Amino acid sequence: MGPVALLVLCLSCLLLLSLWIQSSGRRKLPPGPTPLPIIGNLLQLDVKNISKSLSNLSKIYGPVFTVYFGMKPMVVLHGYEAIKEALIDKGKEFSGRGSFPVAEKANQGFGILFSSGKRWKEIRRFSLMTLRNLGVGKRNIEDRVQEEARCLVEELRKTNASPCDPTFILGCAPCNVICSIIFQKRFDYKDKVFLNIMERFNENVKILSSPWIQIYNNCPALLDYFPGSQNKIFKNVDFIKSYVTEKTKEHQASLDIHNPRDFIDYFLIKMEQVKC
Ligand SMILES: *[C@@H]1O[C@H](CO)[C@@H](O)[C@H](O)[C@H]1NC(C)=O
Ligand SMILES: *[C@@H]1O[C@H](CO)[C@@H](O)[C@H](O)[C@H]1NC(C)=O
Repeated sequence: MGPVALLVLCLSCLLLLSLWIQSSGRRKLPPGPTPLPIIGNLLQLDVKNISKSLSNLSKIYGPVFTVYFGMKPMVVLHGYEAIKEALIDKGKEFSGRGSFPVAEKANQGFGILFSSGKRWKEIRRFSLMTLRNLGVGKRNIEDRVQEEARCLVEELRKTNASPCDPTFILGCAPCNVICSIIFQKRFDYKDKVFLNIMERFNENVKILSSPWIQIYNNCPALLDYFPGSQNKIFKNVDFIKSYVTEKTKEHQASLDIHNPRDFIDYFLIKMEQVKC
């Protein structure tokens, strides 16, 4: 048998194998368009408008259906009823997180957004309790919000009623209330560090919603060795992490365990408690 025949044989075997894996997996999943080997349903999706494509598919397959992004099956919930049933009525069963390689690499499974299971439950409980201690949902958060509102009005007044795009400044205000809870103080709207952090957050959100990230999430092992916008995400996350680390060190040096000032203080105190 010549090398060409051998190659063809191997490729056919691989193709059959992937077809078999896909069809045996599909039996347990909700209905959906028939996937091709390796590329799945990518040809049936318009990558420029994924949400419209999914909306189109739901007209054929109903509110719960399966789509293959490459080799990976994804179950799509479409519409209010299906989403409410899963996230509210059966919230406990659906509280886990799927694999999301970009976030796993950036956060190593920590943090409230991308952890799951026992760790997520604990950090969630701690965060809710701490936010309540810091006055979120109560009257004393009002002072922080009002202080920020005053600054926002002041900043808008500087435009002298001329037309302007307030998108950025309106984003800064709530961000600053969050900063005052975490770092104890708000930033000036012209603060270089603050602007830098906002810019990097915005950039990451933009990259995370690009089709490239779907590709990365499907074959992270391959793309780890390629340049691409995923590296920009990791760089931005590293920058934000190093800023928080620096602030945490400052907090540690001036910590008074009887008078926690902000979220970081509560976290440091909790770390001490858990240690013993
Ligand atoms: C996607 O399609 C919808 C409906 O046709 C349209 O309103 C929306 O602007 C499109 N989005 C993009 C990013 O093209
Ligand atoms: C959705 O369906 C409409 C009507 O069938 C079609 O014109 C449109 O191109 C489809 N959009 C996508 C993104 O698949």
